[in-house]
Amino acid sequence: MSRRMSGEKGPRVTRRALLTAALGGAAALAGGAAGGRGGTGQPFRVPAVLAASTGPVKLGVLLPYSKVYQQLGEDITSAMTLYFESVGWTAGGRRITLIREDEDIDPQVALRKARKLIEGDNVDLMTGLVSSASALAIRDLVHNTKTVLVISNAGANAVTRGRRSPYIFRISFSNWQTAYPIGGWFYENVARSCVVGGSDYAAGHEDINAFKENFLAHEGRVLGEVYPPLNNTDYGPYIAQMQRMRPEAVFVFFAGSDAVRFVTQATQYGLLKEARLVGPGFLVEEDVLPAEGRNALGAYSSLHWALTLQKPENLAFTRAYRERWKREASVFAMQGYDAARVIVQALNTTGGDTVNKTGLIEAIASVKFTSPRGAVAFDPETHNVIQTVYLRQVREVGQALHNVVFADLGVFRDPG
Ligand code: PHB
Repeated sequence: MSRRMSGEKGPRVTRRALLTAALGGAAALAGGAAGGRGGTGQPFRVPAVLAASTGPVKLGVLLPYSKVYQQLGEDITSAMTLYFESVGWTAGGRRITLIREDEDIDPQVALRKARKLIEGDNVDLMTGLVSSASALAIRDLVHNTKTVLVISNAGANAVTRGRRSPYIFRISFSNWQTAYPIGGWFYENVARSCVVGGSDYAAGHEDINAFKENFLAHEGRVLGEVYPPLNNTDYGPYIAQMQRMRPEAVFVFFAGSDAVRFVTQATQYGLLKEARLVGPGFLVEEDVLPAEGRNALGAYSSLHWALTLQKPENLAFTRAYRERWKREASVFAMQGYDAARVIVQALNTTGGDTVNKTGLIEAIASVKFTSPRGAVAFDPETHNVIQTVYLRQVREVGQALHNVVFADLGVFRDPG
């Protein structure tokens, strides 16, 4: 119990209710516990830790609202809002309130913001994180403070492998899941050799390593690797480096404004006339595709969702998102929508109890549903999502460019 909460006054309850709560049944107190007197006839106050389970749920949201991944953060937030609106901002009998902080791209800033949410705002649980670097930076804080976290993007493998925590769930993907599956298909269908590269931080390196793991096992040959910094503006020197290796194809991890700049400049400098463009789907996802325009036409990618995925759940989601926000959904929006759904379903299961961590963790672990992307469930061992990975190509759909799914690579569970 935090010092700040312990000073607060709470509703009055019976000793029996307190005992039940202490034994793990704090949910019994949620939503209007009866006030009363103990055996001595003395009224007493419910400890703040229990009162914390009856007011509005404070959901700490840590997402980028500036720099390279700003749009990703906005898309996740918009779709979370859409889902929470659909349940009237209530779950398990409690109102849901958001406390938002900007994740930035500096992991130290993310750590400071996470500390503010956990220790300053006393959030009941947390969601968000776009960057692998910030997920790695806040992992120990989240684990040590027993804060339940539902990650809605950041793919850092370790967070659901060697540094996994009972408190951490990931409904988005592991970096391995977005790049390993396409390696064999690339060898058979695109090129036997290629240049690889990506933003120079955890996600770029993990994606490329996962791709190489599969591509090299198929006897593919990597001509060279190029890693520009994250949040970069001038890709000229890096593109020149790639061109000197004369690749037939490039496999690259870039997202957000980095993806727009790389694709635009790779076209300007002629790389995309010489080499096919392939990567994890973020490279040409719906958030960046309008800015990339025809430069991205024909690009292949792998991802666990596409706007054009023909599933009833996806048609309903993409339509609702379009009506609400007057723009197309993206994979990030889809992940935000699902993260909100995980939280709502779990709170409904616990009757709004966020204090009994074991109960909350069990409730989240057992969430499974048909997402706009297809069936999803958490791996009981790692808490990472198990899902289908699709092959997509940027094609003209009516007047616009979109990612069209032309095959699926199967269901993937991170090896853990
Ligand atoms: C990550 O840092 O894990 C990350 C960021 C942006 C993406 C995908 C992964 O689009």
